[in-house]
Amino acid sequence: MSDEKIIHIDMGALDSKKHSDNSVLCLGIESSCDETSAAIVDSDRNILSHIIYSQIPEHQKFGGVVPELAARAHILAIDDVINRTLNKAGKTIDDIDVIAATAGPGLIGGVLVGWMTATGIAQATNKPLVAVNHLEGHALVPRLCATLADGSNDNVNVDFPYLLMLASGGHCQILLVRGVGQYELIGQTLDDSAGEAFDKVSKMLGLGYPGGPIVDARAKNGNPKAFDFPRPLCDKGGCDFSFSGIKTAARTFVNRENQPLSDDYIDDFCASFQAAVVDCIVNRLKNALADVRVRDAKVKTLVVAGGVAKNSAIRAAMEKLSAENNMQFAAPPMNLCTDNGAMIAWAGLENFKVGKVVKEPVAPRPRWPLTEL
Ligand code: KG4
Ligand code: ZN
Repeated sequence: MSDEKIIHIDMGALDSKKHSDNSVLCLGIESSCDETSAAIVDSDRNILSHIIYSQIPEHQKFGGVVPELAARAHILAIDDVINRTLNKAGKTIDDIDVIAATAGPGLIGGVLVGWMTATGIAQATNKPLVAVNHLEGHALVPRLCATLADGSNDNVNVDFPYLLMLASGGHCQILLVRGVGQYELIGQTLDDSAGEAFDKVSKMLGLGYPGGPIVDARAKNGNPKAFDFPRPLCDKGGCDFSFSGIKTAARTFVNRENQPLSDDYIDDFCASFQAAVVDCIVNRLKNALADVRVRDAKVKTLVVAGGVAKNSAIRAAMEKLSAENNMQFAAPPMNLCTDNGAMIAWAGLENFKVGKVVKEPVAPRPRWPLTEL
């Protein structure tokens, strides 16, 4: 694999220099979608090395991830990604204490590649193995490293319980996180995920894949009031989401306009669409905060995680909501929002600490809700 395809991530202050010999070292492997990634993380919250091989360029021409191509690309990349991760940390597999890999949910061909690789390494080296739920990786990574909304480097401590907005390409849920493996579902989408809505709107506008970062960037120059997008469910109680109405409205607006769409049209469209998504998230989170208080949870932190947590407007709106409710706001740094090996290594360490290691063979799962841990 050529060097330019590999992203090395350095975490600045959280780098290997601080690693102490007494801490537990975990090798984490992620392969559930279109990133082949591995990281070595220690139990003192240091990321010793982190490699992400993104397949995005290979899927871009199809406008989305092609599962068979992804699985094949994972097979070709995974050994190299793991070896580079060990080399970069100056470690060999003998130095590693725990192996962790995503065992679901996700595209099953890719999950199989990472999970079988991890199982093989753990068996050959006789080391403990953790089957990580990918969503739990997203949910717990703010405890490894979290920043404030403006991305400043203060490493916030995120203690249990916290209220989590989990928004990725495949999921959109509000969860009360009480502890490792302890998730209460407060609300979820009835149709598309937030990430899917961003990706589909981007495709409609001819802007490319993945749509989230492109729409986010275009929205910065646009007028959020230019288009009157609906705010589905916001006139009702509850904490569930629906994005299909926003998507239908987007299609109707685009069909009414002459092609090609002007740059100003696209900027305004992205800003208005994003404002509708933000309003829905804030509206649902307000209800969720009330709900959580009824459940008597001492929630002090509002957290956003998953790929959509990179969105600048969502981060800013959630920070404002946190301040209004005298809560701390935390989000992973940008490169730990989208899929990555460090979140899997960290979830592996958190599970290892509470004794959740694999005791008999585990079959990878395409679907695996957090409430079934
Ligand atoms: O968590 P993730 O990497 O993969 C899944 O587990 O699904 O999330 C990928 C999703 C994509 O839908 C992508 O468009 C979205 O995260 N995303 C964003 C932004 N960056 C990535 N959505 C909105 N704004 C962004 N800046
Ligand atoms: Zn993900």
